[in-house]
Amino acid sequence: MNHHAANDKITSQMTLSERADHLEEQMMHDLDRVITKSVFSHLTDGKVEMEGGAALLAKHPGKYFNMGPDPRLPPMPEKPTLLDYFKNRFASTNHLVQSAALALKNGHSEKVVLACLLHDIAVVGFIRCDHGYWGAQMIEPYVDEEVSQGIRMHQALRFFPDESVGYGYPDMYRKYFGDDYQPEPYIVEEYKRARNHKHYMTARLICVNDVYAFDPNAKVDLDSFEDVIGRNFRQPKEGLGLDNSPSAHMWRTILWPTRFL
Ligand SMILES: [Fe+2]
Ligand SMILES: [Fe+2]
Repeated sequence: MNHHAANDKITSQMTLSERADHLEEQMMHDLDRVITKSVFSHLTDGKVEMEGGAALLAKHPGKYFNMGPDPRLPPMPEKPTLLDYFKNRFASTNHLVQSAALALKNGHSEKVVLACLLHDIAVVGFIRCDHGYWGAQMIEPYVDEEVSQGIRMHQALRFFPDESVGYGYPDMYRKYFGDDYQPEPYIVEEYKRARNHKHYMTARLICVNDVYAFDPNAKVDLDSFEDVIGRNFRQPKEGLGLDNSPSAHMWRTILWPTRFL
């Protein structure tokens, strides 16, 4: 790729975002498929917009839209597994592996350990907002409901203390959200529902084993959880995302985030 050509055309009059757009466009010229962004991706940049198909094609004559893997991302095997997503699509896995390692050390069941290992996959691999709900939905077809329900409910439970298991409101949240942050009514309602749920304690244990403070010296290894995953996560034979489960499309979107349709 020739970034110098792009840099040459960038002038000091350009705003930072104009420069970024310019570089992005240059990169598109270097690829043989036209890569597009979803509206959601623009929304997270603070813009309500989308590129029209016809206008984009006119800008890139002779090219087709990307309808498969994004060549800029790490390649994934033909039949990807959960571990392939961990290794090639999740931006960070330390927090998850450390939380699972702590749950294992505390002597919890494999389902709790798996729930800890997967509790924030939406944060590290998909969408932050409402991550407990997204994460639960992604894994629901492939795990015992104890695991998915636990992850769904940790979204609300982490804001509420439970002295019986020694869980207090995290100091980190005061630092992150301010002293006066109050969870929205839907979270308060979900907390009340979760308190009476048969898998309340699994959700609570996710919070208890949630390692808020990253420990750079902790020796953790994702591969040591391969057996727990193997026994408790029903890996589809077609590849995760290439099956037709109710959440396969979510995995597929992570697999091919810039597919045109
Ligand atoms: Fe979380
Ligand atoms: Fe977490």
